[in-house]
Order: sequence, then C-alpha cells, then structure tokens
Amino acid sequence: MESPKQSTVLSQDDRERLLQAASEVAVRAYAPYSGIHVGAAVLTGCGEVYQGCNVENASYGLTICAERAAIFNAVSGEGGDALEVRAIAVVTSDQMPISPCGACRQVIAEFGPDVVVVYRASGGIRSTTIRELLPDAFQLD
Ligand code: THU
Repeated sequence: MESPKQSTVLSQDDRERLLQAASEVAVRAYAPYSGIHVGAAVLTGCGEVYQGCNVENASYGLTICAERAAIFNAVSGEGGDALEVRAIAVVTSDQMPISPCGACRQVIAEFGPDVVVVYRASGGIRSTTIRELLPDAFQLD
C-alpha cells in the first residue's frame, strides 16, 4: 500500500495550532517599508512551537523573513543538532495569500525534505512538503 503523503501526517489540531501561532506573531512584525506583516510558526519533534515575524531594514536586503526568523528561534530554543522541524506555517496579518520565498525554502529544506509547509494560498490553506516546494534542493554531500 502507498504510504500516506507527508502533508496528511500533520494532524488538523497541529495545523490549527500552527496557523494560530503564526497569525498571533504576524501582528508583531516590523514592516514599515512593505506594510506586509508576516508570521510563521515551527512545530518541532518535541511538540514545541516557535514563532517568528519579518523584520525589515532601511537597507532592504537585510530584511529577514518570518519563516527564517521562526526557524532560527527553533534552533536557538532546542539546539541545532537536536532539532527536528516537523512543520512550518506562514500567514500574513491581513489573510493575504503568501508562500515561502526561495531563500526561506532553502533554509527549511536544510531540516529535511519531509517538513510540512502550511500557508494561505490564493485558493485557501494549502498543506504540502518542502520537497514539493523546492525539488532538488541544494545540499552538500
Ligand atoms: N516576507 C516574509 O516574511 N516571508 C516570505 O516568505 C515572503 C516575504 C516578508 C519580507 C518582507 O518584509 C515582506 O514580506 C515583503 O517582501
């Protein structure tokens, strides 16, 4: 029998919890330039949730996206070697469609191809895997 798709592995409760945590932190973003307030939440193997929001800068390129902020918080919280990233959710404070940018996809992929990614697409909430969003991700091996 075919194994269940990873996108179905995240329970509805966990998905709701992550979306809620992402919405909660989105309003704390620092986004005076774009006005787009993004929130992300990471679920780890321990069941902990770590949040992150986008932080912009007058030197635009120094801006950090919500997804990377959330991942870095998870690493700081649990230690990079021990960390298992199960899932990440991303939303904006005004329910605009958003999906992780290319740089964030590469950073999420660092933690394995099966990480579930949940985001608000134009047709509604989408749950997929980083493998699907970034096939053939760059890796050193
Ligand atoms: N942004 C994120 O936080 N995550 C994404 O995946 C895409 C873009 C932020 C960066 C910037 O502060 C604003 O959205 C507009 O690009």
